[in-house]
Amino acid sequence: MQQDPALEGIAHSRNDETVVPNVYFKDGQAPIIGIYPVGIIIVKHSNNPEGTMDERSAMVKRGNNFNPEGGDWEWFMLAPDGKIAKNENAIAMRGANLMNGMCLQRHTAAKAKDYIFSK
Ligand code: HEM
Repeated sequence: MQQDPALEGIAHSRNDETVVPNVYFKDGQAPIIGIYPVGIIIVKHSNNPEGTMDERSAMVKRGNNFNPEGGDWEWFMLAPDGKIAKNENAIAMRGANLMNGMCLQRHTAAKAKDYIFSK
């Protein structure tokens, strides 16, 4: 599967050729004049037939200066039951402070498309 070079060959477990990403935009929402509306939810499920990879990452547009340096997006990691995933220190994988470092730094490469690569 052709990989987006912005993945740097590693992000979203794509260093594993068997992993396939499926990206879901709530209600198939498209950007409005280049910006996604407040409340849009985008979920990316990266998995493989072998079942060795099952990653859910997500973004929600919060608005109201929630995250001015990151397009007012909030980034999440989700557990298989849809709840917010927790990291090894039982900290919820969400928010601007925790996730800007990990997610925003790279998604800034898609800033011209409101931080979204795949649409
Ligand atoms: C935990 C942190 C992160 C979260 C929550 C996250 C979330 C997402 C989401 C929801 C999508 C689908 C929407 C879109 O196409 O932009 C996506 C796609 C993508 N992300 Fe991230 N991301 C994270 C970190 C990263 C990092 C560190 C990189 C690069 C080094 C990256 C590169 C990409 C690329 C290239 C896509 C396009 C789809 C693909 O080719 O697989 N992301 N991400």
